[in-house]
Amino acid sequence: MANEGEKEAAGRAGATLVRDGDVVGLGTGSTAYFAVVALGERVKAGLKIIGIPTSVQTADLARAVGIPLTTLDEHPEIDITIDGADEVDPQLRLIKGGGGALLREKVVASASKKVIVVADSAKIVPVLGKFPLPVEVISFARTVVEKKIVALGALPKLRTKPDGSPYLTDNGNPILDCSFGEIDDPPALALALSNIPGIVEHGLFIGLAKLALIGKESFVEEIRA
Ligand code: 5RP
Repeated sequence: MANEGEKEAAGRAGATLVRDGDVVGLGTGSTAYFAVVALGERVKAGLKIIGIPTSVQTADLARAVGIPLTTLDEHPEIDITIDGADEVDPQLRLIKGGGGALLREKVVASASKKVIVVADSAKIVPVLGKFPLPVEVISFARTVVEKKIVALGALPKLRTKPDGSPYLTDNGNPILDCSFGEIDDPPALALALSNIPGIVEHGLFIGLAKLALIGKESFVEEIRA
């Protein structure tokens, strides 16, 4: 599949930017997967790094490929984070959380000196919002939050597992996937969502990524914020 090749090229390109001694934020998803695998190869070849995973899934993968792990409590400053995205706009504002790891991903990104986005070319959009915005909420507040999100102009849909039960994040919370359509003012929406009690985190990542590595058919394009 074309996108798989693009994801692998982007993920591997991201892994080359990691330097000896770095504390590395390890993203979640099918593109970050390739970065973690490539980092595992570099570790086997002698690279000394320590990783902070953004999900249980990534922690398991990192252990399997031999990347030593640490916690944010031990290393609250991260040198470089490599993570995927569901949408990337020309200012490197992102929608994230398709894989459900948005909360830990945002905490890790916010603690990072450099955030590198790795993605296939389908993720590049002129305006954010075609991909439903993931919003992590506490179960107690779900219905109240849904009403407030509807008032902001979106259709929230509870994310479910294949058996129909609510999907829960690694933090034990449900996710509302919110179809806003084109988001004209992402910072204003981010602020409005952050001000709703009961929302734990939303998937708008603004001002966090400084470089995106986008897999194209035969090369990797660099986009800087
Ligand atoms: C997980 C994420 C992922 O980075 C995002 O969903 C992109 O995933 P993929 O690389 O599989 O397309 O935000 O919460």
